[in-house]
Amino acid sequence: MARADVAAERSASRATSSGSVTLSGVTRRFGDMVAVDGLDIDVADGEFLVLLGPSGCGKSTALRMIAGLDVPDEGTVAIGGVDVTDVLASDRDVAMVFQSYALYPHMTVRRNIEFPLRNRKVPRADRDSAVAEASRMLGLDDLLDRRPSQLSGGQRQRVALARAVVRQPAVFLMDEPLSNLDAKLRVQTRAELIELQRRLAVTTIYVTHDQVEAMTMGHRIAVMVAGVLQQVGPPGEVYDKPANVFVAGFIGNPPMNLLTASVPSSAVGKSDDVDPAALMVGPDRVMVPAALARAAVDATETEVVVGVRPENVRLATDEGLPVTVTLIESLGHERHLVCATADGQSVIVRVDPSVPQPHPGDPLCLAWNPEDVHLFSGADGRRLAP
Ligand SMILES: Nc1ncnc2c1ncn2[C@@H]1O[C@H](COP(=O)(O)OP(=O)(O)OP(=O)(O)O)[C@@H](O)[C@H]1O
Ligand SMILES: [Mg+2]
Repeated sequence: MARADVAAERSASRATSSGSVTLSGVTRRFGDMVAVDGLDIDVADGEFLVLLGPSGCGKSTALRMIAGLDVPDEGTVAIGGVDVTDVLASDRDVAMVFQSYALYPHMTVRRNIEFPLRNRKVPRADRDSAVAEASRMLGLDDLLDRRPSQLSGGQRQRVALARAVVRQPAVFLMDEPLSNLDAKLRVQTRAELIELQRRLAVTTIYVTHDQVEAMTMGHRIAVMVAGVLQQVGPPGEVYDKPANVFVAGFIGNPPMNLLTASVPSSAVGKSDDVDPAALMVGPDRVMVPAALARAAVDATETEVVVGVRPENVRLATDEGLPVTVTLIESLGHERHLVCATADGQSVIVRVDPSVPQPHPGDPLCLAWNPEDVHLFSGADGRRLAP
C-alpha cells in the first residue's frame, strides 16, 4: 500500500482505533530456530503494554516486526486497523526508542530532536514549536545546544525520547530504553516515562526483561518464553494468577517457590474423598486446600507443582513442611532464607530481619495459608487451580 493510502486509511479510522496494534499469528524463524512463534496480541489505542521475558525469548524480534525493521515469515501486523505487514518502516506511524540511544554525535541536542521532522520536510516554525514542547516536557531546555558527548546517560535517553515524541506517532516502541542507566536514574526515568505516556496517551509497547519495570509500568503485561506468548493481563492478575510455571517463576522477586509434589497413586482418578493433605513432597505431606488436592487428583497426573510465594511462607516449629536452612541472604530491609526439603528441593522464605533468625543447618517447618497456594501441572506446567 502506498504511503498516502496508508495515511488516508489511518486517519479515516483514527477516531476509533488510531493507535491500536494487532499481531495475528506472527512467526519469525532464523534458520531452524523459531524466534517468535505464532504471536497473537491486541494492544488497544493508548494502552501501555509491556512485553516481558527472559533474554533471547524473542521480545526485540517481535518489536522490530511491529516497527517494520524485520518481516514476519508468517502472520500479519496491523496498526490502527490497517494491515501494515508489507509497509516499510519509514511509512509506519511508529517511533522506536532503543537501549543504545542512537543519537547523532555530530548534531546538537536540538538538531537530534528535530531530525525526524526535517526528514519529513516539516516547516521551520512547526519544527521549532514541536522541539520546544518536547524539550520542555522532558526537561531538556538547558541542554539544546550541547552535543550528545556532553550529556549523561539519562540525559541522552531523554533526548532519544524527545526525538520520538516530536513525531507524534500513533505508537511508541521502546526496547529496554532504561537498561543503560544506573539504578537510581532508572527509577527516576521510569517514573517520568509513566507520566509522559499518561499525558500523551500514545499506544506504547515497551520491551524489558526486568519484571519490576513490567509490574510498575504496564497497563498490561505480555509474558513471552522461548518465542511463545504465555500470558497477557494486568500486572496484578499475572502476579496473582500466573498461567503456568514459567510465568510463576519469572514474576516476583524472589520468584514463586515451585515444589514438585507427588499424588499418591491410590488417589489418582478418584475425585471423592480426597485427603486434603494427600500430596507429598519427598517423604513429607504438603499442605494444600482440599479443592486443590482434588484438582490434582482430577488432572490424573502423578506429579503436580505446588507454588507458594516467598512472602507467603512463614516459619513454624511444629506444623508444616519440614526443611533445613541452607543459606541466609541479607538485603538490609529484608532477609531471604534458602531452605531445602527432605528430597532436596529449594524453598525461599522472605523474613523480617528484626525477628530472631535461624542459622544454616537449623531444622524448621514451613507453613502457609491455604489461599496462597497455586497448583500447576507436573506434565506441562499449566495452572490447574485455583
Ligand atoms: N538476525 C538474527 N539472526 C539469527 N538469530 C537471531 C537474529 N536476531 C535474533 N536472533 C535470535 O532470536 C532469538 C530471539 O532474539 P531477540 O533479540 O528477539 O531476544 P530478546 O528477547 O530481545 O533478548 P534480550 O532480552 O537478550 O534482548 C535469540 O535466540 C536470538 O539469538
Ligand atoms: Mg532484546
